[in-house]
Amino acid sequence: MRVIGNTATALDGRIATAAYDHFALGTWRDRAYMSVLRARADAVLVGGRTFRNWPLPLVPDAEAIARLQADSFFDADVTPIEGRRWINAVITRTLPLPDAPRFWRDPRVEPLIYAPVAGPSPAVVVGPTDPHTVAADLAARGVQTLLLECGGDLMAQWLAADLVDELHVTICPLVLGGKGAPTLVDGAGFSPEAAPRLRLLHAHPVGDELYVRYAVNRMPR
Ligand SMILES: NC(=O)c1ccc[n+]([C@@H]2O[C@H](COP(=O)([O-])OP(=O)(O)OC[C@H]3O[C@@H](n4cnc5c(N)ncnc54)[C@H](OP(=O)(O)O)[C@@H]3O)[C@@H](O)[C@H]2O)c1
Repeated sequence: MRVIGNTATALDGRIATAAYDHFALGTWRDRAYMSVLRARADAVLVGGRTFRNWPLPLVPDAEAIARLQADSFFDADVTPIEGRRWINAVITRTLPLPDAPRFWRDPRVEPLIYAPVAGPSPAVVVGPTDPHTVAADLAARGVQTLLLECGGDLMAQWLAADLVDELHVTICPLVLGGKGAPTLVDGAGFSPEAAPRLRLLHAHPVGDELYVRYAVNRMPR
């Protein structure tokens, strides 16, 4: 299974304000590119905190993709998405999650909640929520490409587990600041020796945004 991260950051690496609120850092192009990456994935994964901020289906928007293609965006090709479903996975320690009818009832969404304890929803997979266990479960369900749309807490865990193949980052033209504000990768941090090393696959300025795509140098297996 390939694991791809997609994040919009401010110039200072922060992905939200210190209040952890939800707002779009990028332009419509950034959100449409998110649809492209979702269309290329089989499953999208977030953490409970991100889900509570945005408890909506994590599926591609066909109109947004078409608008991006009409805009001659550098990387917007996708295969048809009509009739497809996407696993929307949420990793959480905190159940129950908020009532989210649009998420639970969308026919394009196959909800999966990974939690260490049982909850009221039948979609809860109870067990260890470490990245290797969740990745193995998703792969066993047939997921070939997993898109991480999580915040820096989970991104740090999946990078530390050496499970991330690529990072797509949209560097947006704003500065958020704020000690303790979430960033692309949080957690305890890496030592210089253990810091994941990356290879640049592309870098495209579009308007005031910069779209970068890096491959993660994973450990030889
Ligand atoms: N700019 C962007 O592209 C972007 C993308 C994603 C998120 N965000 C923003 O970033 C902020 C959230 O950042 P975050 O790092 O807290 O993101 P997150 O993706 O919500 O990850 C943290 C949450 O994941 C759950 N979690 C983490 N490790 C776990 C484990 N081992 N087992 C079980 N559950 C675990 C916990 O959920 P529970 O609290 O439910 O237990 C925790 O609060 C929000 O403001 C969000 O809007 C921005």
